[in-house]
Amino acid sequence: MELIHTIAELQALLAQARKENKTTGFVPTMGALHAGHLALVEQCVAENDVSVVSIFVNPTQFNDKNDLLKYPRTLEADCRLLETVQTDFVFSPSVEEIYPEPDVRQFGFGTLETVMEGRFRPGHFNGVAQVVSRLFDIVKPDRAYFGEKDFQQLAIIRALVKQLNLTVEIISHPIVREPDGLAMSSRNTRLLPAQRKNAVAISQTLFESRHRKNQLSVAELKQEVIDKLNQVPELKVEYFDLVDSDTLQSVQNWTDSAHIVGCIAVFAGEVRLIDNIAYLPMVKFHLNKRNRHNRL
Ligand code: PAF
Repeated sequence: MELIHTIAELQALLAQARKENKTTGFVPTMGALHAGHLALVEQCVAENDVSVVSIFVNPTQFNDKNDLLKYPRTLEADCRLLETVQTDFVFSPSVEEIYPEPDVRQFGFGTLETVMEGRFRPGHFNGVAQVVSRLFDIVKPDRAYFGEKDFQQLAIIRALVKQLNLTVEIISHPIVREPDGLAMSSRNTRLLPAQRKNAVAISQTLFESRHRKNQLSVAELKQEVIDKLNQVPELKVEYFDLVDSDTLQSVQNWTDSAHIVGCIAVFAGEVRLIDNIAYLPMVKFHLNKRNRHNRL
């Protein structure tokens, strides 16, 4: 495994691989790696000849400067972990390397970016689009891997790839959870012991809510989840919405979409956590010839 800090060095190595007709897989990260990232890297290594993992805490996607300052930076430990999963190249550039000039590009993702994270973190997805497009331009991957925990980010990146006519294939990986169910996140390390203990209620409440689907309306279920979590010490729900998995627009009724996802952001003390869960489609009872016959 090689640790690389400059674009020129990385591109020289990747050009060589491309000459040999090797495929390149890419996992962009902000470091502070955990098993969720490693699952992405393992899939990337398995599916490509050459694997690149970037570690770059992107300043343009933080709308809260305090969050940027407190974001964990653990390059040495990250490299040790990446070595265990046979990563080829770790790209850890400086801010000046990625942004020699301030990036003033403005992307537009319409209604995909005005809801949920986009509503509460203005400018966040523009920053994500800036850095991901820049990294894609540098690495020119055949495939890039993203976790489904950042459900809205995944939709934005797919839209970005379409807008820029890129050929990179975007591959998503299911959420990786701690044994008690908490979605893995680099931010979990910032939770105080009591907050960590209470944060388990987020995934638990989401999973329980699946069983309430047949008993409650969409509005009632939303309110129940919010009320339950707000009763847990130190937790404060920022939003919980049930949306169509493609358009990310809120649904009002269970029949509004075949693929409904519940997306949530919760503060545990100062630490903002996100999670999501799919509500399985209503089982439609199709009468085939035989049971139609039986009913007659
Ligand atoms: O999901 C992340 O860690 C970041 O948003 C990403 C995609 C690496 C861009 O900085």
